[in-house]
Amino acid sequence: MDRIRIHGGVSLKGIIPIGGAKNAALTLMPACLLTDETLSLSNLPHLVDITTMANLLAQHGVRMALNGHDPRGGHTGRVLELTAAEILNTTAPYDLVRRMRASVLVLGPLLARCGRARVSLPGGCAIGTRPVNLHLKALEQMGAVIDLQEGYIAAEVSGRLKGAHIIFPQVTVGGTENTLMAATLAEGETVIANAAREPEVTDLANCLVAMGAHIEGIGTGTLRIQGMERLHGAQYSVVPDRIETGSYAVAAAITRGDVELVGARFDLMESVTKVLRECGVTVEETPRGMRVAVLGDITGIDIMTEPYPGFPTDMQAQLMALLSTANGASMITETIFENRYMHVPEMTRMGANINVHGASAIVRGVPHLSGAPVMATDLRASVSLVLAGLAAEGETLINRVYHLDRGYERVEEKLAACGARIERLKGESPE
Ligand code: EPZ
Repeated sequence: MDRIRIHGGVSLKGIIPIGGAKNAALTLMPACLLTDETLSLSNLPHLVDITTMANLLAQHGVRMALNGHDPRGGHTGRVLELTAAEILNTTAPYDLVRRMRASVLVLGPLLARCGRARVSLPGGCAIGTRPVNLHLKALEQMGAVIDLQEGYIAAEVSGRLKGAHIIFPQVTVGGTENTLMAATLAEGETVIANAAREPEVTDLANCLVAMGAHIEGIGTGTLRIQGMERLHGAQYSVVPDRIETGSYAVAAAITRGDVELVGARFDLMESVTKVLRECGVTVEETPRGMRVAVLGDITGIDIMTEPYPGFPTDMQAQLMALLSTANGASMITETIFENRYMHVPEMTRMGANINVHGASAIVRGVPHLSGAPVMATDLRASVSLVLAGLAAEGETLINRVYHLDRGYERVEEKLAACGARIERLKGESPE
């Protein structure tokens, strides 16, 4: 298993290109199941999770071409054509779903198109229990009969799904995406109230419109969908990744550097930009994206994670790394996932001063972090340790790099191009 070695202490200077959003791509890809025509996705990131979704869709019968190659071959092309002319299999097996929870996003489209689906129930994960009860309840309201059998969600509907008025009791990104996809092929109107407004949901809605769906209220908390008998093919470009953008913005800030994030969508970064500016980081829009620089001191602040447009839970660990190096104390409160502080003991080993009390963490800034061997159990925790390593004195060795490879494309190349002393050690982990 690969590891990453960092010799910290270099101020990053230069340009970092931002790729397509992983979490948008992971819902746009299963949308291909809604039509027998070709959905062509450009700006697709080259990540392990994308390959996992490609493998899942392939076993449902989706034919794929990536710059003329099969994406499972690992080519670095950026345009993926997906054609679900015929769905050969409506089961999403345990072996693929356990590797990636986003696999559950095939449930809504398969049920809407084929009238049945059998999807392995995702288990808990490192950051929380993450149930899918709200996905299932919404589909039941649309007429699906759902049973849990031998670890699988077995869903069926006779005829088409029926439009329904769905009110989510809490914001759920995946629940909104599954329901939205199902509603495009349902009979009649579906209203989704308290819908997630995350840019990845908006990207899905815009893609579905390009495929012929009728959706009003895109980008708001109420989506109104008029179901259609069929959708058609489309060409669609995946939105730039706001979490990759935010992660590299923190890389610039934590090393007191000056970096331009080329291809970033500044308009989607409002809450992150606001928080960084409050800490003393200079953030400005540029014609190509945004620039992040540190001219003075970084100061501690209090933040709380919230659904979009609030501060994203997927940026909490990265911000904690930055605040560990700030002047003064900060308080971070995590409101989305119940177990998203797995990076804290590792950061503590690097000299950070963090105390967790329930959902909140008090971070007292220290003058220096110090390099150490570390590992993490999820994607954002892993990248936060890379960020801490960039700022730390001495050598940091990050184990379990496969978490990083799920969500960050060529992370060491992008950082090295800005001066970071970072390298990948191939297959050298003792695990
Ligand atoms: C998506 O997960 C993202 N994943 C996550 O990114 C992200 O952290 C999360 O949204 C919140 O923004 C993808 O898009 C693939 P939710 P999702 O449904 O859809 C509870 C990353 O690092 N809930 O909005 O699974 C749930 O337990 C990943 O890239 C229910 O109780 O998140 C959580 O507490 C990690 N029942 C809250 O809602 C349900 O049926 C929000 O979850 C569904 C969710």
